[in-house]
Amino acid sequence: MSSESDSSASTGAFRFAARTRHLQPSAIREILKVAEAPDVISFAGGLPAPDLFPVEAIASATASVLAQSGPVALQYGLSEGHLPLRAWIAEHLAETLGLVCRTDNLLVVQGSQQGLDLIAKVLIDPGDLILTENPAYLGALQAFRAYEAKVVGLRSDADGLLPEALADWLHAAPVRPKFLYLTPNFQNPTGTCLAEARRREVVAIAARHGVPILEDDPYGRLRYSGSPAPALATLPGAGPCLYLGTFSKVLAPGLRVAWIVTPDRTLHDKLVTAKQAADLHTSTFTQRVVTETVRVPGFLNDHVARLIAAYRIRRDAMLAALERHFPAGCTWTRPDGGLFLWVTVPGAIDTHAFLPTALAGKVAYVPGAPFWVDQPVRNTLRLNFSNASAERIEEGIGRLGSALRAALR
Ligand SMILES: Cc1ncc(COP(=O)(O)O)c(C=O)c1O
Repeated sequence: MSSESDSSASTGAFRFAARTRHLQPSAIREILKVAEAPDVISFAGGLPAPDLFPVEAIASATASVLAQSGPVALQYGLSEGHLPLRAWIAEHLAETLGLVCRTDNLLVVQGSQQGLDLIAKVLIDPGDLILTENPAYLGALQAFRAYEAKVVGLRSDADGLLPEALADWLHAAPVRPKFLYLTPNFQNPTGTCLAEARRREVVAIAARHGVPILEDDPYGRLRYSGSPAPALATLPGAGPCLYLGTFSKVLAPGLRVAWIVTPDRTLHDKLVTAKQAADLHTSTFTQRVVTETVRVPGFLNDHVARLIAAYRIRRDAMLAALERHFPAGCTWTRPDGGLFLWVTVPGAIDTHAFLPTALAGKVAYVPGAPFWVDQPVRNTLRLNFSNASAERIEEGIGRLGSALRAALR
């Protein structure tokens, strides 16, 4: 017996499971705590604009749910999710993406983050390989690593994952990975999209090697320029694809309502069982409020149009401010949608070490390092443009530009 277990036996202290070694606190949540001071202009969180939340529509939906079905709305519900909501989601996916699914292929979850966790729970054994783009969504890396996956980051550029990087890796692969995780639309953190031709190639390569795809699509409807590309799950020749969608960015993230489309019944049933163990079901009440909100004819399309109009102004304001204020040697992505853009600063600056200087200058961002699957590129950072007015963006990017100039002098 080790001295550690000796001492825990004598003190009766809790002893952690070995897998908690892989539970890393989110770098972003730590930064958000500091960035909350009212005089700091924060581009750190992935926050949708609260001034655009449809508060009145949700208030009237809430009143009608309570008036019409109060007792059932407050009762336990199905683990799979509220059936009328699943029916609405199925119709919406067919209409907007041409993604055809049945209600019994849909599981309602508490945010797509829970979807990632449940998928990891049912698919990942310790040591399994998961492929992804690089950099990648930090919350997915956290979820996969918590189940002791080994995540492999594949080369990616302004058009997303490089199909040849996927093909080369799979060609030489020691073992078949469990799945390929991608955010093809306005990725978090870079804001880039997987180009249409690449989507077809990626899907074909994955199918050829028998690698299922997990497609995470929280931002697809938030497009401000350019034209949409098809969802991976809808492409001809695609192998098994799990598709994750959410109301977080088109209604409000505090609702915590999202969904998983599963390609087959066995996987769906496993996910339902995992969900039962996690929380029995997503809030019956909230699901009914969401259903009542989105089924008002035209509501969601009109609301998304309002979001697009406002976020387009903010994106353009940030791009213009970066041109005006950032020193030579900085580059950034020019996203056609979503909430983020990704900046590369001169190599002399480590954006993690530089953050306290930026905070002293009353501006916050997220350092890029944690988004890199391995070998972090330390002179990168993520900026959110949806949560500040054009004026605050101009002011905040000015502050950050001055701080960077001073550091580079
Ligand atoms: C790529 C990606 N997936 C999933 C999520 C989680 O979203 P939700 O609020 O639906 O849990 C986010 C949130 O920022 C995200 O950027």
